[in-house]
Amino acid sequence: MHQIRPIVELGDPRLRKEAMVVGRVFENAVINIISDMEVTLASTDGVGLAAPQIGESYQIIIIGSRPTDRYPLAPQMDSIVMINPSFTATNEHCEKDWEGCLSIPGIRALVPRYTEIQVDYQDINGLRLHVHLSGFIARVFQHEFDHLMGHVYLDRVESNLDIVSEKMFQELYV
Ligand code: NI
Repeated sequence: MHQIRPIVELGDPRLRKEAMVVGRVFENAVINIISDMEVTLASTDGVGLAAPQIGESYQIIIIGSRPTDRYPLAPQMDSIVMINPSFTATNEHCEKDWEGCLSIPGIRALVPRYTEIQVDYQDINGLRLHVHLSGFIARVFQHEFDHLMGHVYLDRVESNLDIVSEKMFQELYV
């Protein structure tokens, strides 16, 4: 059965490893990981999840933007499962905006990200797809993609002055 899995937190070496490319999309192990990721993400108020965050070293992410307590202004979308994703920025323009991470509770920070990207990935049927993402959803993608490379968003913060507590974030910016 599909189960809500514990979220791996910063300091756990599994968050710092490059995740493995998924070879066989239809393998039971892969299908089970995706199902566990879906129920785990749904049990949180996050807007995306990467497989390493449930301790699975595979290149699988879910982008599931929706308004939540953590992200009240997030756009509503159908969640997308992306296997073996890659991306290129379609222009050089970056913007700083607030991010948080289920693996780094209690903290928010301003992170520069590309605002327009072209993403290539495989869907759950193994089909290779391309999609253009912009704004907040492009940001969520880049955040989750970082997890597949063993990076976290704090690695990209330009100044410690751009880091605030979750409590102060709620007071000042929501
Ligand atoms: Ni994260």
